[in-house]
Amino acid sequence: MSTAAVSATSRVLNPELATRIMSAEEAAALIHSGDQIGMSGFTGSGYPKAVPMALARRISDANLRGQKFQVSIFTGASTGPELDGALAMAGGIHLRLPYQSDPETRKRINAGEMEYMDIHLSHVAQFVEYGFLGKLDLALIEVTAVLEDGRLVPSSSLGNNKTWIEQAEHVIIEVNSWQPEALEGMHDIYYGLQPPPNRGPIPLTHTGQRIGSPYLEVAPEKVVAVVLTNSPDRNSAFKAPDEASRRIAGHILEFLAWEVKKGRMPETLLPLQSGVGNIANAVLFGLEEGPFEGLTSYTEVIQDGMIRLLKSGKVTAASATAFSLSPEMLTEVNADMASYRDRIVLRPQEISNNPEIIRRLGVIAMNGMIEADIYGNVNSTHIMGSRIQNGIGGSGDFARNGYLSIFMAPSTAQKGAISTIVPMASHVDHTEHDVQVVVTEQGLADLRGLSPRQRAHLIIEKCASPDYKPLLLDYLSRAERLSYGRHTPHLLSEALGWHNRYLRSGRMKPQGED
Ligand code: COA
Repeated sequence: MSTAAVSATSRVLNPELATRIMSAEEAAALIHSGDQIGMSGFTGSGYPKAVPMALARRISDANLRGQKFQVSIFTGASTGPELDGALAMAGGIHLRLPYQSDPETRKRINAGEMEYMDIHLSHVAQFVEYGFLGKLDLALIEVTAVLEDGRLVPSSSLGNNKTWIEQAEHVIIEVNSWQPEALEGMHDIYYGLQPPPNRGPIPLTHTGQRIGSPYLEVAPEKVVAVVLTNSPDRNSAFKAPDEASRRIAGHILEFLAWEVKKGRMPETLLPLQSGVGNIANAVLFGLEEGPFEGLTSYTEVIQDGMIRLLKSGKVTAASATAFSLSPEMLTEVNADMASYRDRIVLRPQEISNNPEIIRRLGVIAMNGMIEADIYGNVNSTHIMGSRIQNGIGGSGDFARNGYLSIFMAPSTAQKGAISTIVPMASHVDHTEHDVQVVVTEQGLADLRGLSPRQRAHLIIEKCASPDYKPLLLDYLSRAERLSYGRHTPHLLSEALGWHNRYLRSGRMKPQGED
């Protein structure tokens, strides 16, 4: 046994489960082609690392022998190169859900070589519990430790682990001694959710409240393998906030201050949700310099910006389902995990993203977007209407149910060749009914209380890049004269013409318009 493995055995205190310790290869040999596997992992945190790699090798060997070997992978959200990357590279994934951001997986999905089902993150656990997605053969879960009584100390994400363990026929556990032991006590796993018609209210009324247990429960007889690992979570660094992100953050802060002034929000605001991506992280950086104190956060992931807000004391309590930190911040936080245990609660994603709670707490939802159309329909997922970028993630859970729903992006992409404000969105994840505020570096459009035509004029005026504003105004004024109906004016033969032009010429602007 390696030194890492020896130290890891001190983390498997249950005698029965200790007898099932085996190598990753032996555990991977227990997996069958066609299996549906629920794996841990959320935004690059807490995903299994050794067994997926061993499985990928097994799949490659089978392929070399001319045998097809594929499994379906359900997770919390995105994972890391050892899971999505390795299995996609081996051609081993038949169906993937619910959210991914791995370049190789994205490539294969967009090449039509892999089935991908992009569903709201709050739906995943219940879809499996209700039997909508068929039988779950296996749960493959990373944990920090196994206690003497067999309960599991979760690692850096919770995602759907509770549901996978409950629903799967068999369970494989990876015990990762790289994960800090100080994670013990940070999680809050609610075991009170019953399926309808017996579902009662979830008794959670404030961000930092604990309503469950810090441990995952597993029936020991289900556990077919325990694998010892010592591997870091892998996440990529965030881009340093650029001028555009800083301006977006500035507009949002100004807007929130206005809401406080109008008496629509307390001075400590309402719980903040901040989505994935560079812009969302930049907004958190902006809040650090802003005037607000005593903030709370009811969100999905703890990013670098949130840690800085916790460190500065601006945020007093944060609830999420996972960490999603840059490598530098991860090292810092892991060394000091105990100091965050009272202020961070990690919950199953069916609770962190639960519509009932988001609506009750009045969450301020702030999410990135690919594009918005002039009426406020938002595309979060598809480039040019057909090429998936990541997935809807939790943006729909929060946008639909939040107190306020804000979507943000720079006004142009790809060095100005693309306008992110377009006549018609090439794919819609969030309809005009769920979008209250659109922000770019140019400005902020508050769409509350406006009709479609009023919204269109405001979005163009406030959010469009000056390079595209005249073209959008021209489209709108012609649509207002010529459209079939004048409620939401459109010229259907032109509405997606900007996307079409980009696909033909590499830019959304017509020739001669510079
Ligand atoms: N057309 C074409 N490409 C576009 C585009 C558009 N309108 N808008 C962005 N892009 C491209 C960018 O150019 C960039 O491409 P690159 O990787 O080749 O440089 C890529 O998309 C990512 O854009 P970036 O500006 O770096 O965005 P980001 O990191 O802030 O992420 C989303 C933006 C929308 C992709 C991201 O927020 C996301 O996946 N959202 C959906 C899930 C979600 O909201 N989850 C949160 C719930 S808690």
